[in-house]
Amino acid sequence: PTLKKFTLPFRTPPVLQPVRSDSQTDYYEITMRKAQVEILPGKLTEIWGYNGITPGPTIMQRTGRQSVVRFINNSLGTPTSTHLHGMASLPEYDGYAEDLTFPGYYKDYYYPNNRAATIWYHDHAIHATARNVYMGLAGMYIIQDQTELDLPLPKGQYDVPLIIQDKEFATNGSLIFDDQGQKSQFGDVILVNGVPWPRMEVARRKYRFRALNGSISRSYRLALNTGDPFIIIGVDGGLTPAPVEVNSFRFGTAERYEFIIDFSKYPIGTRVILKNRSLPNNLDYDGKTNDIMCFDVVRDEADDSSIPSQLRTFTPLLASQAVRTREFRYERTNGQWVINGKTWNANRVDGTPQFGDIEIWRLYNNGGGWFHPIHLHLIDCQILDRNGRKPFPYEVGWKDVFYVGENESVRVIGKFGPNTGKYMQHCHNTVHEDHDMMTQFEVLQNPL
Ligand code: C2O
Ligand code: CU
Repeated sequence: PTLKKFTLPFRTPPVLQPVRSDSQTDYYEITMRKAQVEILPGKLTEIWGYNGITPGPTIMQRTGRQSVVRFINNSLGTPTSTHLHGMASLPEYDGYAEDLTFPGYYKDYYYPNNRAATIWYHDHAIHATARNVYMGLAGMYIIQDQTELDLPLPKGQYDVPLIIQDKEFATNGSLIFDDQGQKSQFGDVILVNGVPWPRMEVARRKYRFRALNGSISRSYRLALNTGDPFIIIGVDGGLTPAPVEVNSFRFGTAERYEFIIDFSKYPIGTRVILKNRSLPNNLDYDGKTNDIMCFDVVRDEADDSSIPSQLRTFTPLLASQAVRTREFRYERTNGQWVINGKTWNANRVDGTPQFGDIEIWRLYNNGGGWFHPIHLHLIDCQILDRNGRKPFPYEVGWKDVFYVGENESVRVIGKFGPNTGKYMQHCHNTVHEDHDMMTQFEVLQNPL
């Protein structure tokens, strides 16, 4: 198919309205179903979508209010488990891989919305996560709080989600899921919010973007064709302590980065291209996915937004506060993806921190050409160091996904709470996760 880049109009997923609300809670309903949608012009593609669209509708919430979301498995023909990635949900609402909802059933999930951040919901069914997410089961969930809303950052229509995914299409328009023998799924068409290489018209002013890498396996290195910097203001767990200017940044599967682009410096008529500058020696490099989308500067507009020099109060956790260190080794052996030599097993528990313990986890990738974006459920952590060196300036803050490149050793520190119980940790290349680079930890109640 000859699809011309930067011709299809940019759009954002619709915001989901609650079916009802009371003084503390908003109730939502989402039906998972198959649908035929037009992604490539003039062709129909079968997707598996939340409410029949992909990405699914965006849920917007405030801290201090609870959400109850009824996820209805209508006609997918396959069981599901829905995980809200980045939410400290109770274990029974965390989308545990073996807590399956079968076709014809639904499950109500309770979400406390305990901090402001850009998070996302996606399928997490055991051994089927990659295919289910690839077919469309992913959507954004944005939590705001008053402190953040009071900052003079761009808001409303200038606060824009960017869900970036790569897909592969057959000539008839159907999606091809090819995980290369359980190794990785890479596509050659880049979608942003479900649209191939879209074109967004922007005004000469600042915009806030909330980028989510919703790809199955692909990591990116985002950059602008102009060479101008992004001003990073947020990571997985919400705002960074302070804005950070970077010319490019590595963007692993499931990570979120929020950044400001100031288009006021460009004359009307300028096209700014969001690029992927993955390196040629990288698994992610295919020469076809170097472009993401474009911004066409089309009009003047007053801009009353600004970027404060401090974004949030932030207390670094210190290595000296940790009560212990655990080691996790992510590797491929005997044709399987393993953590500390073993695959997933529901009886497996690696690590039993006491509630409230601060621990250091050393995440280690011993090579072989692979990289692993490692995700911990339940908690946000800070990166202490990468191979003994300081983390990249753009990854300072609270995170739940840690890119562990080849031969990298990344030490992260976090405090175990606010819930007890069993939670998963795994590689978020979801093909690796499915086969079977996943384990769990259990946060133990303090003895009385
Ligand atoms: Cu985004 Cu365990 O997943
Ligand atoms: Cu991996």
